Amino acid sequence: MNINKIAYSAFVAFVASLATLVSIQALSSSDRDAADDDALDSITLDELAEHDGAESCWKAIHGRVYDITDYVPDHPTEEEVILEWCGRESTEGWDNKRPGVPHSARAEAMLEEYLIGRLVDGDGEPLEPEAAARAEEGDEAGDADGEPARLSPAEDERLHRALLGLPLDGRYRGVFSDGGEMQVNVQFDLRDGRLSNISYRHLAYRGEDYRRLDEDDDLYPVWAQHQQLAEALEGQPLTAIFALYEPERLAEDIDGYSGATLRGNKVHSAFRDALNRGVYSWP
Ligand code: HEM
Repeated sequence: MNINKIAYSAFVAFVASLATLVSIQALSSSDRDAADDDALDSITLDELAEHDGAESCWKAIHGRVYDITDYVPDHPTEEEVILEWCGRESTEGWDNKRPGVPHSARAEAMLEEYLIGRLVDGDGEPLEPEAAARAEEGDEAGDADGEPARLSPAEDERLHRALLGLPLDGRYRGVFSDGGEMQVNVQFDLRDGRLSNISYRHLAYRGEDYRRLDEDDDLYPVWAQHQQLAEALEGQPLTAIFALYEPERLAEDIDGYSGATLRGNKVHSAFRDALNRGVYSWP
């Protein structure tokens, strides 16, 4: 055997051992994942959907659920980019931070620090991302057997109201943006034409996030007053949003300084945007 042949055989043996190592590694990591997942807490889409904002932000990514509440302020984009996916099956967003570009391996390693469970269906079986996304959309295309979905009596009623131009009962979300900045993002429910569960998913001005201010911050009264606006509208008929044009009718203590920044009309605009967009979900 000449030197070349020896070198070639040694090279082939080296490549073969590398390939074996790689496949052993692949096998053991997938085994480990499966075993780990069985040990994780089971979380349903309904439970996931309860954590849909900055106060508590859970995301389902590739079948696992992560509580990334603490990470949201550190994410290297505007918060809306990442908040939009809270409470949802987020694999699509994760795999496409920009269209076609997934997050880096470093980001993946960070994500695992926030692991809290695995996504399951109503029977406790693992729920794949595609099935979860379809379930969130209400599986509009049809049922599991491929039958076209029929209108249920509730849907029929909704269609009837929509045709008459009446706002439908349901959960709404709407925003007011100006100068390229989202300033108000409001969520509310409508029941028999009355408002409930009003909350701000976002409230900011010039990069200052009012929801994160400390009580001793100069701007804190602005946040407090916006909360008063929401409380005053709670249980009121939808038409009460017109009072937002005169916020002093709804909020107390509007002094000169904070009065200048309390813009009830922005909140009004976000409500109108929500109504224009139509029902966001049927809670
Ligand atoms: C699922 C919703 C998410 C969306 C839509 C999203 C979107 C983005 C965007 C647009 C960027 C900046 C653009 C770029 O780097 O090219 C980015 C970067 C980054 N994101 Fe996210 N992100 C999401 C969730 C997360 C989560 C949950 C984490 C970590 C726990 C995370 C960690 C990072 C990191 C570390 C970067 C820096 C770039 C990289 O390492 O890939 N992101 N993301």
